[in-house]
Amino acid sequence: TDLSRIRNFSIVAHIDHGKSTLADRLIQSTGTVADRDMKEQILDSMDIERERGITIKANTVRIDYKAKDGQQYVLNLIDTPGHVDFAYEVSRSMRAVEGSLLVVDASQGVEAQTLANVYQALDAGHEIVPVLNKIDLPAAEPDRIKTQIEDVIGLDASDAVLISAKSGLGIPDVLEAIVHRLPAPKGDRDAPLKAMLVDSWYDPYLGVVVMVRVMDGVLRKGDRVRMIATNAVYGIDKLAVLRPQMVDIDELGPGEIGVLTAQIKQVRDTRVGDTITTERKGAEVPLPGFKPAQPVVFCGLFPVDAADFEDLRDAIEKLALNDASFSYEMETSAALGFGFRCGFLGLLHLEVIRDRLEREYDIDLITTAPSVVYHLYMKDGTMRELHNPADMPDLTYVDHLEEPRIKATILVPDEYLGDVLKLCQDRRGIQLDLSYAGNRAMVVYDLPLNEVVFDFYDRLKSVTKGYASFDYSITGYREDALVKMSILVNDEPVDALSMMVHRDRAEMRGRAMVEKLKDLIPRHMFKIPIQAAIGGKVIARETLSALRKDVTAKCYGGDATRKRKLLDKQKAGKKKMRQFGKVDIPQEAFISALKMD
Ligand code: GTP
Repeated sequence: TDLSRIRNFSIVAHIDHGKSTLADRLIQSTGTVADRDMKEQILDSMDIERERGITIKANTVRIDYKAKDGQQYVLNLIDTPGHVDFAYEVSRSMRAVEGSLLVVDASQGVEAQTLANVYQALDAGHEIVPVLNKIDLPAAEPDRIKTQIEDVIGLDASDAVLISAKSGLGIPDVLEAIVHRLPAPKGDRDAPLKAMLVDSWYDPYLGVVVMVRVMDGVLRKGDRVRMIATNAVYGIDKLAVLRPQMVDIDELGPGEIGVLTAQIKQVRDTRVGDTITTERKGAEVPLPGFKPAQPVVFCGLFPVDAADFEDLRDAIEKLALNDASFSYEMETSAALGFGFRCGFLGLLHLEVIRDRLEREYDIDLITTAPSVVYHLYMKDGTMRELHNPADMPDLTYVDHLEEPRIKATILVPDEYLGDVLKLCQDRRGIQLDLSYAGNRAMVVYDLPLNEVVFDFYDRLKSVTKGYASFDYSITGYREDALVKMSILVNDEPVDALSMMVHRDRAEMRGRAMVEKLKDLIPRHMFKIPIQAAIGGKVIARETLSALRKDVTAKCYGGDATRKRKLLDKQKAGKKKMRQFGKVDIPQEAFISALKMD
């Protein structure tokens, strides 16, 4: 295809502002998918994404469009994920296209994620077309939002396209804006091949599928290609474009986006951002900006029923084949037995994987407290990464410890600002900036990631009644006074509950935790002490008295079926418990105990 007739773009938006609905409309109005085949939100292919309304896997679609100037164009849309955990996926897919549509809900305005994603688009050198969506809503205020886009982002919004993705109003204007306001790609057909690896996934029929954007040269079916970062060589079996289903093609030239298969064994063998070139007469220098995605949050996953361990291993291996950013290794816990220590890009990523294991593979799991990666500087001058608080060495060997810090941007309506500042302050935050955009405040905080991984997001949503939006990026490591706190139940340490805490907060957290556990652990036939300790020193203690709760007592004899039901319920509840020494601890205790109120 002639370069001047290609437009490559992505859609940047905050969650729920209408990205998927707009993508659907573009596909539908150009006849890319026949109306009868049109499923709502066709790009959100996985059930879980659909259910949560979050786009996780980047998808792409090639659209043929005949513009009003009479010319035929090829429009390639790359769908980028909208959540903070997937910032790296967003940044690399942005480098595969030349422009973005910035979709803003005209009744809501700019949100924290909109900002983060727009900055990435600007970083990638994009031309940006602002699109105000949902103008059908009575609460839509397009003029106010235009001004807001100009004030907050510094982008000229006078030519913003006004649309309703839901009703289809304004969709033809969006297509024309793509053709006339976004630049055509550049590239040299005669230069050595340089194609960027944009994404890869496992397809049960085809094996590993790799999405590429050709920068220079031509990629042909049958070519032998080399991936520069891994130095692996493969023969291309299949080359296709996505409409959005695969349609075979013989070659992809500069500016084009498509997928290939090449007998690649696992998704792990493909590095997103890597450069693909031909084996012979290939390019020497890779495309700039490649970095492998790094897990930042770790937690242990253990089967509730030890007999499920092999099933869990199987399930985790399968998921990892399809998700290169998820890492795992076997872990044994004195309390929980055999399981896996897993690394994730962030909390949402963790939740998604845990959910899939429980739902798609039907395994009941115990998730231990999420932990960040600490840097331990040892007295012998070496540095070690600590992924699991249970592995914390004796303090006499440690010189000092550093923890990851983030820069968090929060946008919040004025009336909740006080609560947000208090929350950030409570989590050891340092305020960097505070400014206003209309009646909303934008606060920027420097925070320790370890205070955010657990329930910061939930707390933020609850203190602001869901009105705050949040985005973060890791800025670096800093030394602080962190200690390992252990929890002992009936004098036995429960390793899965140990955590790193700031020395000044240890007592407060220890107290909160033992109080919670006291409520969460059912009474037994004997007294159970519950303690929080640092090193050998107990900092908080509760005692669960020995009293067997008779769950049928309040049923006043009589109703036998009711009694039956309660007993059955109690039995079912038992299954979800783990034994620690002589004590049964319910599964929920592991997560609930760590939530702070
Ligand atoms: P994520 O996939 O979670 O990032 O969200 P999204 O940005 O793709 O939003 P989505 O397209 O799923 O739309 C969110 C909600 O807004 C859905 O309930 C849509 O039906 C609704 N919506 C989208 N466009 C419009 C519109 O133009 N008008 C109105 N009234 N509602 C819309």
